[in-house]
Amino acid sequence: MDKERQTILFVDDELSILNSLRRLLQDEAWDLIFAESGEKGLELLNKQEVDIIISDVRMPGMDGITFLKQVKELYPHVVRIFLSGYADRSAIVQALSEGCAQQLVSKPWEDDELKGIIRDALLQAEELKQKGKGLQKIINSISTLRTMPQTYFEIKKCFSHINTVSIERLAEIIEQDTSISAELLRWANSALFGQMHKVDTVERALMVLGIDIIEGLVLSYSIIGPISSGSRSATGFDLKDFQTHSLSCGILAKMLAGRLPHMDDKEAERAFTAGLLHDMGKLVEEMCLADDFKKIMDTARLKNSLLIEAEYDVLETNHEEIGRHLAEWWSMPSFLVNAIRWHHEPHLCKTSQDIVAAVHVANVLVQKFELGSSGNFRIPEADPASLKYFDLTEEELPSIKESVMYYLS
Ligand SMILES: [Fe+2]
Ligand SMILES: [Fe+2]
Repeated sequence: MDKERQTILFVDDELSILNSLRRLLQDEAWDLIFAESGEKGLELLNKQEVDIIISDVRMPGMDGITFLKQVKELYPHVVRIFLSGYADRSAIVQALSEGCAQQLVSKPWEDDELKGIIRDALLQAEELKQKGKGLQKIINSISTLRTMPQTYFEIKKCFSHINTVSIERLAEIIEQDTSISAELLRWANSALFGQMHKVDTVERALMVLGIDIIEGLVLSYSIIGPISSGSRSATGFDLKDFQTHSLSCGILAKMLAGRLPHMDDKEAERAFTAGLLHDMGKLVEEMCLADDFKKIMDTARLKNSLLIEAEYDVLETNHEEIGRHLAEWWSMPSFLVNAIRWHHEPHLCKTSQDIVAAVHVANVLVQKFELGSSGNFRIPEADPASLKYFDLTEEELPSIKESVMYYLS
């Protein structure tokens, strides 16, 4: 029988850190165990079942990266998280890109954020256990996508040294990819980001758009961009229309988030990135599981069901779970992971709820507006609580559609 309480193993050579984690989490319904070294951590794992591990990086003897690499080999179902100081960042980005851990928490941590990350990781551990077979099969077949696209990897490395890397250097890296540079300039000049003056260099675009947007755009255009020119693929999925769907969803999610009085501009801009990348899992299916994806499209057409329902019939999982896995694998910020995982079921999401709700509503509305195509043959329903949250009325929908079209053009 499955045990009811989930177990978290903390590994850190500093006793004071282990003690503050113990104090912070002792009232939660989790079993906490502690080890002062990687070696001791492995001994504990040998004796008892663990759901997630949160490990320091710099430790005498076995360091955190070596430790988590071994855990990945021996206990692949355990969710692995780094807890690290700023100085370790570049080694960690490398280790994260190799899939050694799925998440990174910075020291010193924010108590609520850490608890949120642990809750999400425990959900992920539970999901992997329950839906293990379907999802595991997919995970094994997406190895080609596990390597981050090159430009994305390079800018991620730069972001991890953002205090020492100059904006000129970052611009230089991005300029090597002309199509991505052109897209960044286009968005930096868009009225969506409220720019009054013409932006004509990548360096200036970086300053106008900020890190979150740049990261989302670079990723989106490095995976969606190169394949969109091929248009309709063998599976019957139109990639150009899909790109329009993703962009429209990003634009509308930002507009919706901007309606919430407590959201500042920065937060609303995050909704743009989340909307842009929300259906990333569909791209994985289209690119890595073409035969299954064709079956999904055929099933949805035949049964007049949504893709997300047909995905379960064929794969025993869906694009939300697949996308979330990849987002975590690439160490994306948690608001993106959540939007990718919960955009069809926003009520189940416990953190980043405003952004997730904005993406959920935007995803449904842009399909109603027939802006691009998500691959669905019928329009999904919006969660009534989310609609109410944004105070949307039927009468204003035509003008909202017009605004999205304006920003798209
Ligand atoms: Fe979706
Ligand atoms: Fe979508």
